[in-house]
Amino acid sequence: MAVPIAAGPGTGGDLDGQSFKPDLERIEIELLLEGIFRHYGFDFRSYAYASIRRRLWKRIEEEGLSSVSALQEKVLHEPEMMEKLLLDLSINVTAMFRDPGFYQTFREHVVPLLRTYPFIRIWHAGCSTGEEVYSMAILLREEGLYERARIYATDINEVVLQRAKAGIFPLERMQEYTENYIRAGGKRSFSEYYTAKYGGALFDQSLTKNVVFSQHNLVTDRSFSEFNVILCRNVLIYFDKTLQSKVHGLFYDSLAMFGVLVLGSKETLRFMAHEDCYQQIAPPEKIFRKVR
Ligand SMILES: C[S@@+](CC[C@H](N)C(=O)[O-])C[C@H]1O[C@@H](n2cnc3c(N)ncnc32)[C@H](O)[C@@H]1O
Repeated sequence: MAVPIAAGPGTGGDLDGQSFKPDLERIEIELLLEGIFRHYGFDFRSYAYASIRRRLWKRIEEEGLSSVSALQEKVLHEPEMMEKLLLDLSINVTAMFRDPGFYQTFREHVVPLLRTYPFIRIWHAGCSTGEEVYSMAILLREEGLYERARIYATDINEVVLQRAKAGIFPLERMQEYTENYIRAGGKRSFSEYYTAKYGGALFDQSLTKNVVFSQHNLVTDRSFSEFNVILCRNVLIYFDKTLQSKVHGLFYDSLAMFGVLVLGSKETLRFMAHEDCYQQIAPPEKIFRKVR
């Protein structure tokens, strides 16, 4: 089934039920996004319309459905359909040593702080398929801190968590990851950390010895421990300001005093209620220390 081409407002308004009605489709899409937000906590309501529409229709076609409303029925009643749709909306995009400058700065400015702690608790909130977690595990191992660290890696999406646990990443991305690793201040040969297996790059399983993967919804679930570092990169960008503020409340409550909060390169604490509670370490990296 081809995606109907929007003919513009007011067209296709006949009552025979056959022709495509762009205005009606927009209502259906808005209702679906509202339902997803209220039921699952994902806020796509302010997303670029054309892109959301295209991705929704991809799922509609793959399921053999014929309308956005039919998809809504399934998404709201079948969490597995929501998980599929989440993957379609490709909010799980991630990479190893993504934004290498961040890891370089983390090594220089945060690792010395962490060395002063006998035990380190780290939370990767919205870890997706785990590339960020493996990157951190490698960094901590190279800095001699891994053995005293406990890493909690959470995501709302169970499908991506399963992939994270498996630790198998596409072989074709290894060149990009190797370059990132070097720019991130990597100290060894990146290929030491994986072997080609099961059609991908299987990462050293000892890297997840101190990692707990678990489902957690930032919108609806509570804090579950006190952390020295919380990383939540490229997640809040998908939330509106109200939701961002709520999640920042959760992070503030979950961080130990002088703990470190890491956001994605395009994310900010500006205009958040907790803005004054943090100091930015080594701008422009989005690394903040809780100071009050
Ligand atoms: C773009 S990925 C970011 C992955 C990684 N942090 C990075 O920067 O490469 C965003 C992740 O946030 C997760 N996410 C979105 N809403 C969430 C929520 N309410 N609670 C927990 N995780 C959520 C998504 O499932 C997705 O895996």
